Amino acid sequence: MSHSANSNSAQVRYADREKLARLYDIEVQRFVAAHPESAKAHAVAAGPMMNGVPMSWMAKWPGPHPVYVATAKGSRFTDVDGIEYVDFCLGDTGSMVGHSPDASVAAIAKQLAQGITFMLPTADATVAAATLAERFGLPKWQFTLTATDANRHIIRYARHVTGRRKILVHDFCYHGTVDETFANLDDAGNTVSRENNIGAPFDVAETTIVVPFNDLAAAEAAFATGEVAAALIEPAMTNIGIVLPEPGYLEGLRELATKYGVVLIHDETHTLSEGVGGMTARRALSPDAVVLGKTIGAGIPAGAFGMSQELTDRVLGNVHLEHIDVGGVGGTLAGNALSMAAVRATLTEVLTADAFVAMEALCDIFTADVQGILDKYNAPWQVSQLGCRAEYSFRPTAPLNGREAADADDFELQQFLHLHAINRGILMTPFHNMALMSPAHTLADVKRHTEHFEEAVAALFG
Ligand SMILES: Cc1ncc(COP(=O)(O)O)c(C=O)c1O
Repeated sequence: MSHSANSNSAQVRYADREKLARLYDIEVQRFVAAHPESAKAHAVAAGPMMNGVPMSWMAKWPGPHPVYVATAKGSRFTDVDGIEYVDFCLGDTGSMVGHSPDASVAAIAKQLAQGITFMLPTADATVAAATLAERFGLPKWQFTLTATDANRHIIRYARHVTGRRKILVHDFCYHGTVDETFANLDDAGNTVSRENNIGAPFDVAETTIVVPFNDLAAAEAAFATGEVAAALIEPAMTNIGIVLPEPGYLEGLRELATKYGVVLIHDETHTLSEGVGGMTARRALSPDAVVLGKTIGAGIPAGAFGMSQELTDRVLGNVHLEHIDVGGVGGTLAGNALSMAAVRATLTEVLTADAFVAMEALCDIFTADVQGILDKYNAPWQVSQLGCRAEYSFRPTAPLNGREAADADDFELQQFLHLHAINRGILMTPFHNMALMSPAHTLADVKRHTEHFEEAVAALFG
């Protein structure tokens, strides 16, 4: 189910900043008192690791340090202080199937004992590819270790077969650490480097054209330059809050891509939340390529891209076997036996159509509860839903594009809400206000969030 109507009405910034700072301080004190073991673990970790974390953005949690995980199973994890959390972050989709689902663990354990990587194919890959082909309606699949790599590779193929250089992306998109995608629109409508693009390797205006989401005229103008090899899009934006497509937008992009010979790529890494075949199948769309990653191997590194027969034929006609190992598409561990065993079991035994029905039904309740609380306290925020994924944003109506969504961002407000949640045994996705349901989530899990959310909203607006 997709919730809420689109409009471009402006955000209302939470006004009482003193109260917000006061409320946040209370939560920080509560967090510090409850997490002595995480604090110790963090202090030790600061020795050998920058910011005390194995990857930089793990430092971007509210409070003085992240919580350190001891164990996890299903919808929950326990930290090193013995506190149990309902996990709505789920590794930012890496664990959308729930932590360590039994069927995936069994297949992974079996393969671990039978050989991990060979640079030779295993039968699991065939089953995984056939499953994806059936679900997404694209006949040919390749596997990588991450969604980022899948995006990089399909972009290369698109450039190679079209002989064009540029990639079209949406303003405020995120597709992993793909250089071409770190681009924004400036106020004059020019494509410029995204703020804080670390060590930008080139001027993105040379490789990229940015357009607003839901703007077919802008897409057509970009395609009409004749320079665009591929449009790399999320069919609904999910990394700047949820931005849903207006009726006809995705179909219109398909028509334009065909008209101008542009390879249309749906990055469904997150929008897979709409069902086994993502938005592509659910909305009967027909991109030239689809990208997946994160959760398809239950968190064991795996990405994938699927291609239409036509695109596959064009690639095969332009890439020669003799040079295939040094062409810029690949990865020694890509398609390894362990990943493929994980993907096969996860797709066929965990991420089933029935599982999606249950996940979405729970998310309907999550979304309705959040909306009910916003209405009760007259909070000028909204909540959007995309299958088993929901997100609230600090503006009264659903955003129409990435800029509108970005303008509603409020870092301090988010920090308070996320820390308030952590202190009540709930983990939300960092960087925004997103919640995911796994097949293991229960009504009790959702209601725990509802309780925290009402308490937090009442404190802010009551
Ligand atoms: C839509 C989308 N595509 C690709 C990626 C990259 O995934 P990974 O970091 O696992 O390569 C992300 C990561 O958040 C994403 O949101």
